[in-house]
Amino acid sequence: MKGNKVVLSILHLLNDNRFYSVEYLAKQLNCSRTAITKALNTIKNLGINISNIPEKGYRCHDSFVWLNRDVIFQYHSLISKSYNLMIFDIIESTNKFLLNYPKEKQSCNAYVPVVTSEIQTYGRGRGGRLWYSGVGTNLAFSLRWRFDQGIYVLSGLSLVIGLAIVRTMRSLTNLEFNLKWPNDILFDNHKLAGVLIELRGNAIGPSFAVIGIGINFNLHESFTHAIDQKVTDLSTITGAKLNRNLVLSALLLELQIVLTQFHTCGFIPFKDEWIKCHAFHGKDVNLIMQDGSVIEGTVDGVNDDGSICLFTATGKNSYHIGDISLRLKPDNK
Ligand code: BTN
Repeated sequence: MKGNKVVLSILHLLNDNRFYSVEYLAKQLNCSRTAITKALNTIKNLGINISNIPEKGYRCHDSFVWLNRDVIFQYHSLISKSYNLMIFDIIESTNKFLLNYPKEKQSCNAYVPVVTSEIQTYGRGRGGRLWYSGVGTNLAFSLRWRFDQGIYVLSGLSLVIGLAIVRTMRSLTNLEFNLKWPNDILFDNHKLAGVLIELRGNAIGPSFAVIGIGINFNLHESFTHAIDQKVTDLSTITGAKLNRNLVLSALLLELQIVLTQFHTCGFIPFKDEWIKCHAFHGKDVNLIMQDGSVIEGTVDGVNDDGSICLFTATGKNSYHIGDISLRLKPDNK
């Protein structure tokens, strides 16, 4: 049994507030005592509250909240009719799973496939980066939406998804979340969540979008120090442990609303609200292109197709979604 799987299996076993010895766990899970001890250390390092009494063994004081289909549907019963929700313990990538999902199983958006998993072993991020999602630290899920048109009409989609996340986070916490073009979700200039959209189809359609969302819930310190970006998580922001089932349920409800509207009206109805949420609106920025070249400019909103407008030395220019990243210059207030 691989490391992550041992961690998950122990957490399942320890979910009843009773004591378990290392020997017992090793026997139950059919692995070595060393593997059990290593997994127990990983669990402690995740910030999960477990104690060890030498004669009795280990006990977990936190009741670990698993992703649970019934609970997710209980929060908003309507979504049980709109989504085909699949929950895994471990998966390589929820986006990859839905890219390979058989086309014949989705002829319309009446029962939209959604996949979530406790762990992704190879979560995909933008620009070919990896997206880290360990046990209980993250909410990682993807859904697949079908469009009759070709992929050329889908520009602006990723901005709309970012907006749906901001709306949901604001209504769940009453706090001020923002966006960074095209679709990072920020709190106080720290990244809370990311969106990766992978499109398939052709110019005349039909086409489909696999919309992958990763939200940080409870990141480990070693991780936040290891990456070259300011990141945050919902535990830090709210000072509480938000239930991932509740957040997923609320997000699925909002996504259903925005995707239905986007499907018929495109990005335009969302544009003004999106600009109001943009943390970089009116700021001087560096826009880093795929080839590493940098464009300096001042952000002047976004266009009807979701591309960003910059005032630059050569005039007002627009830049489209791609492998572009936007960075605040250090002297920006
Ligand atoms: C980013 O780099 O900002 C986008 C990260 C998107 C990560 C999510 S997690 C769920 C889904 N499955 C993946 O493999 N990636 C996306």
